[in-house]
Parts: sequence; C-alpha cells; structure tokens
Amino acid sequence: MPERRGRIDVHHGDNLAVLAGFADASFDLIYIDPPFNTGVVQVKRRTRTRRDPAGDRVGFHGLRHQTTVLGHSSFDDRFDDYQAFLRPRLTEAYRLLAPTGSFFLHLDYREVHYAKVALDGIFGRASFLNEIIWAYDYGARTSQRWAPKHDTILWYAKDPGRYCFDLDAVDRIPYMAPGLVGAEKAARGKTPTDTWWHTIVSPTGKEKTGYPTQKPLGVLTRIVRVHSRPGDRLLDFFAGSGTFGEAAARDGRACVLVDESAEAIDVMRKRFAGFPTTYHVGATAARGARTRARSADP
Ligand SMILES: C[S@@+](CC[C@H](N)C(=O)[O-])C[C@H]1O[C@@H](n2cnc3c(N)ncnc32)[C@H](O)[C@@H]1O
Repeated sequence: MPERRGRIDVHHGDNLAVLAGFADASFDLIYIDPPFNTGVVQVKRRTRTRRDPAGDRVGFHGLRHQTTVLGHSSFDDRFDDYQAFLRPRLTEAYRLLAPTGSFFLHLDYREVHYAKVALDGIFGRASFLNEIIWAYDYGARTSQRWAPKHDTILWYAKDPGRYCFDLDAVDRIPYMAPGLVGAEKAARGKTPTDTWWHTIVSPTGKEKTGYPTQKPLGVLTRIVRVHSRPGDRLLDFFAGSGTFGEAAARDGRACVLVDESAEAIDVMRKRFAGFPTTYHVGATAARGARTRARSADP
C-alpha cells in the first residue's frame, strides 16, 4: 500500500452538468456504475446491531442482539428512455479520457447490449478490449429460469494501441486443480481471466455502508491497480457510496466522484472520514459561480 493516500474530490449534482466543467483528456481511468434500469426505486435500510440481553435476535453462542434502524438510503432506477439518459454521459466519458486512458462501464443484462453498441459508436469497435463478467452467488433463486448471478463490465481504451494493463499488480487467485501444477505455481496462484468470481458486499460485514447496490472494494481495487498508476487521476461520476474513490485513494491515486443523491454524499462523508477529501456542491471550481468547496482534510 502506498504511503500517501490519494486526494478525493466529491461533487454533489447531476453528473452531466458537473462533467461539463472538466477539461478534455483530464482523467487516466474512468469507471461508472450507473443505475441498471431495474424499474424500481433501489432502497436499503441502514441498521446498527448491538449486544443486548433483551434484544430481538439470537446470534452466535445464543447471545441476544438488538437491531436499530438508523435510516434508509435510496435512488431512483426508473427511466422512460434509458439509452437517451446514458448516451450523452458516455460521450462525455470519451472526451474526458486521456489519450492512454481506459473506460469501464458496469451494468447487467438489462441494458449492457444496447450500451455496448453505443460505446462501439463513440469509441470505435477496435477500442473495445474486454467484457468482464463479475460472477457472485448470493440471494434468492428463481425456479422459472437460470438465476441471474452476474454483472457485466465493459472495458474500452481511448487508443487500443496504448493503454495501462499492469498484470503484475493484479491479486492472484487459486488454481482450480492445484494438484496439476507444481507446488511453487500452486502457492503463487494464477492471474484472473475475464470472469471474476467475487462475493457481494456482505450485508453484515465491515465493508457495508448501507447504500443500495454498493459494489465490492475487491472488484474495483483490481480495476484501479491494473488499469492505472500511482499519481494518476481517476473519475467515477455515478459514485454512490464511493467504493471506487476508496479503492483509488487507498492505492495513491487522486479521484473525482460525482453523485446527485444527498444520501450518497452523506454516506461518502462517513466513509472518507480518514481520507483527504474536498466536497463541492454543483459544478467545478473551473466553472466558477456554482461551486462551494469545503475541505475535510484529516
Ligand atoms: C448503482 S449506484 C452506484 C453504486 C456505487 N458503485 C457503489 O459502490 O456504491 C448509481 C448511483 O448513480 C447516481 N445517479 C443516478 N443518476 C445520476 C445523475 N444524473 N448524476 C449523478 N449521479 C446520478 C445515484 O444517485 C446512485 O447513487
């Protein structure tokens, strides 16, 4: 882990307006995880569980716990024309990428095929490098069809001949059949392919922020480490709970985050308490009048 954490800039506002304030080619890596167009309002309860002899839940060793509901976080995931919403934001991502930059779009089966056609048009088909499948195994299973248990992450490079892909920086994974390779290889593990098995954020674990659709730090850390270098400037303009910002800052990258939800900004304020972070309302300082910046350096 680098000695210095990267700076984080959080912007509260609609991303299209905020992005217009950033200079062309000013980011080395952009990751976005927009709403998936599920047709519902995504809601998550934020809770705190404490040991309490009079509690309502019995846990390990028969100990009782009391769960208190602290509040709810939510964002609207209903669109009349989702592609009309997404397309101008994808065009902005292309404009903002440095000549050697990479773009990652995280979606699921509902919209990813339409988005890929749009990105082929914006970046050029040759710029498409990978379709990464993030596979997990959690939650209910339908008995009507194969239970959908993966998301899709598309990787485009601005220039397919010049991009950052530092495979030495990747976390290695266990061989499926370690007995078939030598002991040394088995101990070192292997590099991942385009299919990433990784558990979701545990509903009871330390990583949980209480924000709906929070993505695992492990998945986004892999993208940060392999596709950027310490000191690079990164961007996530559908930031939610700020997972990408945490991954970037922990590995010494500067990161700009944007979200229009006040609840997301509240969650990020708590999450980034130990990080050098500046909060902005609306568009960037470069655009002047609409910005109020408040520094929260630790
Ligand atoms: C799927 S969530 C992102 C979750 C995030 N990757 C995480 O790990 O917590 C999508 C986010 O996009 C935000 N959003 C939707 N439309 C937006 C817009 N026009 N401008 C800025 N943020 C927007 C929502 O408020 C929501 O927080």
